[in-house]
Amino acid sequence: MSDLAHFDVAGKRVFLRCDLNVPLKDGVIKDDGRIKASLPTIQALLEKGASLVIAAHLGRPKGEAKPELSLAPVAKRLGELLGKEIIFPGAVVGDVVSNAATELKPGQILLLENIRFSSAETSKEESERTEFAAELAKLADAYVGDGFGAVHRKHASVFDLPKLLPHVAGTLVAAEVEVLKKLTQNPERPYGVVLGGAKVSDKLGVIENLLGKVDVLAIGGGMVFTFLKAQGKEIGTSLVENEMLDVVKGLIESAKKNGVKLVLPTDIAVAPSFSADATPTLVSADAIPADQMGLDIGPESAKAFAIEIEKCKTVFWNGPMGVFEFANFAAGTKTVATALTKVSGISVVGGGDSAAAVRALGFADSEFGYISTGGGASLEYLEGKELPGLQALGL
Ligand code: 3PG
Repeated sequence: MSDLAHFDVAGKRVFLRCDLNVPLKDGVIKDDGRIKASLPTIQALLEKGASLVIAAHLGRPKGEAKPELSLAPVAKRLGELLGKEIIFPGAVVGDVVSNAATELKPGQILLLENIRFSSAETSKEESERTEFAAELAKLADAYVGDGFGAVHRKHASVFDLPKLLPHVAGTLVAAEVEVLKKLTQNPERPYGVVLGGAKVSDKLGVIENLLGKVDVLAIGGGMVFTFLKAQGKEIGTSLVENEMLDVVKGLIESAKKNGVKLVLPTDIAVAPSFSADATPTLVSADAIPADQMGLDIGPESAKAFAIEIEKCKTVFWNGPMGVFEFANFAAGTKTVATALTKVSGISVVGGGDSAAAVRALGFADSEFGYISTGGGASLEYLEGKELPGLQALGL
């Protein structure tokens, strides 16, 4: 397999797929971690004498040009970080793009508009994607795949395009895969995984797979209430997936059979409504009042999670423990994040949302072993699935 260091791109135009899917609020970038994570490959390619056509997605515009999902703010931030002009024609394909690409000189960068403004990018029809990929292929002489957060998507610019051009993985994708291999191939033990977030159904595959591999599985976040209800507990008005209760009972059984220590919260911070200024009340996980909803794990639980995490030599964490965006319900997530910073082995924060959460809570990236840029992608990797974007790059 060829790698970026040995990929000859001098004087060539390179199509670089990045994941620049950053959280935006009113056109302002809330966390530029994914842009920063894309810089090493961009800089390496420019130093090798390439010019770049960069493609990325933002949100899920479903084939429509939605102005609020334009990559314009990303073009601006990328230009600031690199200290150079980013040519932004404001289109995905068409004459304006082809002409701008043809005129690129070594060292110059052209950023396409949100690639998902074209419905063919995400089409389920292979022929539509292939046709679109062929159009994109005309813009460049070579392809570099560095959008780790999107490698689990069978999309034209991720999966079909690399087949049409000489291709290689960028340094971000290579680094992410190396870290994930450490989690999947003979991880140093004890190996613990902490999962949070809203839905069990989103994480079912990975939980099933991990139950055969980890020593400790700690669960918090909105999905924990489906676990508590499956254990027969009253969960008030907390988030719940009733259709998953039997499946979750099966997971609890399977943890027992596999000797996996399943750590669930014993106390919960509850409130009468989902609101930023709601006052939290601490209750036992056995006694959530009928008119209250759980919005964070309680301090006793957070401490228990932290003790388990700090004992581990390998830890992967995905998903906040509570509604960390509300200051009153951020403590569980903060305690878990702090515990991860103390792990003496490898600690991995998995994903765009979890990464944005730890940064929003004031942690520096350097405090963790590794912050993955791909939430869905890293979970699917841990689930043991073949990821189209990695397969296309021969990884
Ligand atoms: C992400 O945010 O996880 C990636 O950018 C992929 O986005 P998607 O889930 O919309 O495909």
